[in-house]
Amino acid sequence: MKRAITPGTFDPITHGHLDVITRASQLMDEVIVAVAASPGKNPLFSLEERADLARRATAHLPNVSVEPFEGLLVDFARSRDARVLIKGLRAITDFEYEFQMAALNYELGKDIETVFIMSPPQYMYLSSSIVRELASLNSPVDQFVAPFVAKALQEKYAGLRSGC
Ligand code: PNS
Repeated sequence: MKRAITPGTFDPITHGHLDVITRASQLMDEVIVAVAASPGKNPLFSLEERADLARRATAHLPNVSVEPFEGLLVDFARSRDARVLIKGLRAITDFEYEFQMAALNYELGKDIETVFIMSPPQYMYLSSSIVRELASLNSPVDQFVAPFVAKALQEKYAGLRSGC
């Protein structure tokens, strides 16, 4: 049984994330989308909200599950008996950060391998932060995220604007 983890902050999950998760699910028997608490990134959505959106976005993939986690990624991977971390790689700008994380994770857990999947051209520029910025400026984000994610963004920013 080949089980992999696709980790991220998923604030919120985009079509780019879904592309990587889908391709990982075709390579592996089982994929766990690990939604990191990432408190240092001060996420827009709560951990449970991010996990819920990721669950809905991957509901059609039978061998994919979603779990929120806190703490070290390698510890989470071990606790789920997974030895492979699968990450998406967009442009060369991602490389240094991902290279550093892969090297660190290797130091922390030599039994765990990081594997990269290249983003297709149409998602090279796409990131959660770009989607958040567009939504915060009331610009439509329907071509980048699932409809319920676009709605959640709209509601979140409407709430923030009204002080709720
Ligand atoms: O989507 P992101 O924010 O680029 O994902 C980064 C993530 C969540 C994979 C990374 O920050 C992470 O692994 N966080 C868990 C804490 C950890 O293990 N840190 C040490 C490795 S950098």
